[in-house]
Amino acid sequence: MRLEEAKRDYYRRRAKEEGYRSRAAFKLKQLNNKYQLMRRGSKVVDIGAAPGGWTQVSSELVGNVGQVIGIDLEPIKAVSKNTIILLEDITSSTVVESITNALRGNKADLVLADLSPKLSGVWDMDHYKQIDLCNSAIDLLPPILKNGGSSVMKAFDGDEFQGLVKRLKQSFERVEISKPNASRKESSEMYLVGLDFTGQVPKRHSEVYQSLHPSGGHLDSALSDWHENPAT
Ligand SMILES: C[S@@+](CC[C@H](N)C(=O)[O-])C[C@H]1O[C@@H](n2cnc3c(N)ncnc32)[C@H](O)[C@@H]1O
Repeated sequence: MRLEEAKRDYYRRRAKEEGYRSRAAFKLKQLNNKYQLMRRGSKVVDIGAAPGGWTQVSSELVGNVGQVIGIDLEPIKAVSKNTIILLEDITSSTVVESITNALRGNKADLVLADLSPKLSGVWDMDHYKQIDLCNSAIDLLPPILKNGGSSVMKAFDGDEFQGLVKRLKQSFERVEISKPNASRKESSEMYLVGLDFTGQVPKRHSEVYQSLHPSGGHLDSALSDWHENPAT
């Protein structure tokens, strides 16, 4: 058996034995060991949380004086008393209000985003959609993450990856790119750890374009026009 398959089986078996709902739980444990992202009493928002592995790990680490809010499009079984589950799309207009209500007026110390779109198998499209979800998660940060707080975000490495890193670097004092041992080497997923949130995030490129060209349509259609006729 190849080494990477053996590693996947190892983490799958451990997840089963230790009662975690996903192998991904070990990725968060390893990232937390490296960066000390949460402690007893921390408030954590876990975006794209189903089936709940990261929510379980966070709930254990923050203890009963901490709080965890898990959000997903898919239902998540209850985790623990210190955890609130929201069944919601992170791109909906109501999601910020739902999160701030659940945080009871506080801001989070840590925002996690292990988001994945439904995969089509067409790499470019899956990559683009996944990075778009990451950008939606970044858009949520100012009202929900406290200044000086941290974030962990899964991102598929590809053409749009560096643009995402750049946006995070404009939002956090320090950004680290990490690949925990529990993540398969051949998988394109990387983990971006943002430390010391500045409180502000830059606009997305498409928003900048639209503010410069208010009647000029959408950036995507502008780009496809350009591809058809780059001389104009
Ligand atoms: C890889 S799974 C998360 C695994 C989780 N961290 C764990 O340890 O169990 C990615 C999740 O992102 C969720 N997701 C994708 N798009 C979303 C959206 N627009 N709003 C909320 N959740 C979304 C998916 O439903 C999926 O459950």
